[in-house]
Amino acid sequence: MTPPNRNMASSPARIVAVAGARPNFMKIAPLLREIESRAGVEAFLVHTGQHYDEAMSESFFKDLRIAEPDLNLEVGSGSHAEQTASVLVKMEKVLLQEEPDLLLVVGDVNSTLAASLAAVKLGVPVAHVEAGLRSGDRAMPEEINRILTDSISTWLFTTEEEANLNLAAEGIPSERIHHVGNVMIDTLFDKLQEAKKRDTLERLGLEAGQYALLTLHRPSNVDDPRILRGIFDTLEQIHEKLPILFPVHPRTRASIEKMLGNTQPRLQLAEPMGYLDFLKLMAEARLVFTDSGGIQEETTALGVTCLTLRDNTERPITVSEGTNTIVGSDPKTILIEAEKALQGDGKAGRTPRLWDGHAAGRILDILQKDIAGTS
Ligand code: UD1
Repeated sequence: MTPPNRNMASSPARIVAVAGARPNFMKIAPLLREIESRAGVEAFLVHTGQHYDEAMSESFFKDLRIAEPDLNLEVGSGSHAEQTASVLVKMEKVLLQEEPDLLLVVGDVNSTLAASLAAVKLGVPVAHVEAGLRSGDRAMPEEINRILTDSISTWLFTTEEEANLNLAAEGIPSERIHHVGNVMIDTLFDKLQEAKKRDTLERLGLEAGQYALLTLHRPSNVDDPRILRGIFDTLEQIHEKLPILFPVHPRTRASIEKMLGNTQPRLQLAEPMGYLDFLKLMAEARLVFTDSGGIQEETTALGVTCLTLRDNTERPITVSEGTNTIVGSDPKTILIEAEKALQGDGKAGRTPRLWDGHAAGRILDILQKDIAGTS
């Protein structure tokens, strides 16, 4: 897994960067911008097509001003095996053709693992951004993706200390682990002022600080009708006091249709939001309910109270230092914690170390030095 030799003076180092699903796009954006701004390195962007709707993909490219991907693999939806296998087969061809110095992957979606596996089998070293996060719950598809991607990566870039400890405990040599901060928060700080100017609240009939925001898409919540109905019953009670806006993920929409006989939750429903509208909605919310990983971190950076509708988190710093509380799907706990936020007693928290808008720069410094060091 040694990076190929390359004469930096004559040809730039070549990075194949991969993004596939919605939470990847805000992570890859600052890395691409950083590569673009530097001499001696260039990127080839592959979109796997895991997410493909305008609302789940294209609108993010527009809001984040990411250039069109150099290639879209158009793998689309499917079972885990189908999706992973399709990216694996297609990425192998891309890597053989592009002959990059390294593969750059972010996050923990199926595309992340599949692309990494294709690369490492061809001897292309992998840089994994957002390494080392562990929920301890192997029933979560992302947990498997995290463990496997980390085990085959050459560079492991982490967002919090706990991730370094997880990797060390799994036997990853310390010289591969780099605590660099959070690229998703690079994007958040970069876009916050632009987002704040948007008329999102007016369009949705909401007032700053007078609503809650909900996202829900994890299989553990939305694939079990009893749990899904239970969460909606609880949130409907809160909605009577504080309106809850719920942009519905396509997976959740399908679950509601299939399992709840199309009985829509009595919340304020909306289509999935673009990045800037959603950032505006998070920044101005009294309270956020979520089962997403990234939103736990974004609310911590924004200082907005977050109640996580899961039994665990792979991002413990959002609880120990940030604004996050793990409430699971238990109605009593959800109601107690929501009431605290309604009384203005939500968790305040502080922004973790190195979540400062410069993580992508640190990552590129390390990658460029290491690639140059082998030429
Ligand atoms: C994926 C990631 C998850 C991430 C989430 C964010 C994995 C294992 N999961 O989950 O970590 O938090 O993205 O959204 O990689 N669909 C559409 N249009 C789209 C994309 C999906 O309609 O553009 C529907 C399809 O019915 C599809 C379902 O959503 O079968 C699930 O999509 P998939 O990419 O398999 O997983 P997500 O639940 O989105």
